[in-house]
Amino acid sequence: MATPTGSDEPAAIPTDAGVEVRMFSAKPYDEAAFRTANERHGHEVTFLEPRLDATTARLASGATVVCAFVNDDLGPAVLEELAAGGTRGVVLRCAGFNNVDLATAERIGLRILRVPAYSPNAVAEHTLALVLALNRNVHRAYNRVRDGNFSLEGLVGFDVAGTTAAVVGTGAIGRIVARLLWHMRCTVLAVDPYPDDHLVELGVQYVSWDRARAEADLITLNCPLTSETHHLVDADAIAEMRDGVMLVNTGRGALIDAEAAIAGLKSGRIGSMALDVYEEEGRLFFEDRSSEIIDDDVFARLLTFPNVLITAHQAFLTREALAAIADTTLANAADVVAGRPSPNEVTSP
Ligand code: NAI
Repeated sequence: MATPTGSDEPAAIPTDAGVEVRMFSAKPYDEAAFRTANERHGHEVTFLEPRLDATTARLASGATVVCAFVNDDLGPAVLEELAAGGTRGVVLRCAGFNNVDLATAERIGLRILRVPAYSPNAVAEHTLALVLALNRNVHRAYNRVRDGNFSLEGLVGFDVAGTTAAVVGTGAIGRIVARLLWHMRCTVLAVDPYPDDHLVELGVQYVSWDRARAEADLITLNCPLTSETHHLVDADAIAEMRDGVMLVNTGRGALIDAEAAIAGLKSGRIGSMALDVYEEEGRLFFEDRSSEIIDDDVFARLLTFPNVLITAHQAFLTREALAAIADTTLANAADVVAGRPSPNEVTSP
């Protein structure tokens, strides 16, 4: 077959192709996206179903690069075992890196790269989907109608237009959420130490977290999980929110103290809540557990509220996002092996 240069020689594989990448927590949709993207990268990718933890880390032995996802355990013991097995870097196929012990990674010389932005639209659009579905009880109406129950009792929502919405974290995702809510004619408040000029031009007001929670009818969490944001929504914060506030979290589970949220739902302070993430999701999400007994009583309680809508960490799940994640992750793997600096590298603060 003729190559782009016109010769009959096979196209040269870049010198940093052929990296041995072992992927943990691999699902069929990951595999499909990575196989397609890898036609351009030429790495040797092995797809492993198990989640990465201390009991499975030995499966990485001999792989130059390990590919991990949001709920893989990248604590000190696992990182040490990866390094001992010859791994030089971990490429995260996600944006968040709160599950990585960066201090250990740096100490043992293991590089950590992530996908800082793939399709912020995917997460922002899912956030809006949750707001609209929860408000208009689409999750309940769907089941009712299928069951021949056409009663509208209990399905009353509110006009999102005219409400005050607070977006916590206006980075790649939050700034799109803020724009979508602005287009829906909300008064948009934003909480972020780094204001976005375009949002300010639109009339979005940057305010303190104290003020946002006191004034907002709807609060969406789009900031990363850090020591500062851990349980940002706790009992004290909930006590200062407006009665009947709608709370939406597509950031990371531990931004919300789930037990405090349950108390807030029971008292009515929280009027409704939508979650795509949950603090203890690592033991639940991404698997079919429909034949198991859920032994997480907090999560089981959340499932009992008619005004709680939960999706299992699927906000990122669009074709476009999966393709972009695969492409950047495979490029990151090449950078690890070539020893190239990368803007996608994460280091401890
Ligand atoms: P980003 O890094 O572009 O933006 C994060 C923003 O949060 C920054 O502007 C930062 O200044 C701000 N921030 C940091 N600390 C804050 C604080 N204490 N209060 C208010 N704002 C603060 O990140 P991006 O891409 O927008 O993602 C945000 C988070 O969304 C990620 O860290 C990740 O945890 C989560 N995420 C969830 C996904 C899902 O499928 N549910 C998929 C992708 C990301």
